[in-house]
Amino acid sequence: MFENLLHKIKSHTLSEEFKRLYHGRGEEEFKFLTLDSIDEILFVQFYEESNYEKDLLDLFKEYIQTSRHNAIIVKRRYGNETFAALGEIPENYTAIENGMKFKLNFLNQNIGYFGDMKNSRKFIESISKDKKVLNLFAYTCGFSLFARRGEAGYIANVDMSKSVLATGMANHQINGLDIKNISFWPYNILKAFPKLKKQAPYDIIIIDPPTHQKGSFIASKDYIKIIKKLPSLSHQNTTLLACINSPAFSKEELINMIESNTSFRFQKQIPNPEEYTNSTLKSLVFNIQ
Ligand SMILES: C[S@@+](CC[C@H](N)C(=O)[O-])C[C@H]1O[C@@H](n2cnc3c(N)ncnc32)[C@H](O)[C@@H]1O
Repeated sequence: MFENLLHKIKSHTLSEEFKRLYHGRGEEEFKFLTLDSIDEILFVQFYEESNYEKDLLDLFKEYIQTSRHNAIIVKRRYGNETFAALGEIPENYTAIENGMKFKLNFLNQNIGYFGDMKNSRKFIESISKDKKVLNLFAYTCGFSLFARRGEAGYIANVDMSKSVLATGMANHQINGLDIKNISFWPYNILKAFPKLKKQAPYDIIIIDPPTHQKGSFIASKDYIKIIKKLPSLSHQNTTLLACINSPAFSKEELINMIESNTSFRFQKQIPNPEEYTNSTLKSLVFNIQ
């Protein structure tokens, strides 16, 4: 089984760009493991305790002798522990996606970058020219970076965490992107609809919420609340990108929820990057017809 894993890892062509090398959820073996190449760092995440941890780390130490990596950083998500198995945890480091830099903090539960949204961010870049964009659940503002590179006229990033928005603002700066006409609103979205309306209508609306964040957002009961507000935030030509990453929330359910409560109609699904085997992320585009 270790040979299989090594074979899979070695099949990727690497560069300084972020690359998921192994996505356990979609695999037969090592379902508890993800492995990312982040420029010169090999980033290992264990989602459950396992007897294979030591052998896997030995395997990775051997692998990096011939790869571009010079450090192995390990996150035990089940134990909330991060350590360097080789090298050091850098204080300043970035993940690169299509040439765009994202600041990382390896000590945080989520390090500042989600690679599964790569194709959706490219899509947003391609439609953003001169557009007014509302980026809900902005996190470190990945969509905003690509919207701005795509020459969006105005972007509102909304997230209840001030610290992720601060990283988001820094992400624009390290990429040389002008933050003029970009807002960073630290609101609880479920309570902020009157404020969101002030800049409405938007040409592009992005909804990329967590599935289950206790006390903040529970998709099964809260997603519908945002959908019901869409008419007051949009116009006849608004494009909606609605996302959900949960095995329990199907594509059909999300389409049905949106089509039965608004005039938005499903157009297409943005495919997930191929490395994310069997990912449960659904990224769906809607227009008003
Ligand atoms: C899955 S991440 C979003 C990922 C992001 N769209 C990206 O492209 O990287 C979820 C974010 O939702 C935020 N969040 C959760 N509940 C919220 C709420 N009720 N209002 C505002 N932000 C919320 C969290 O702070 C977190 O940053």
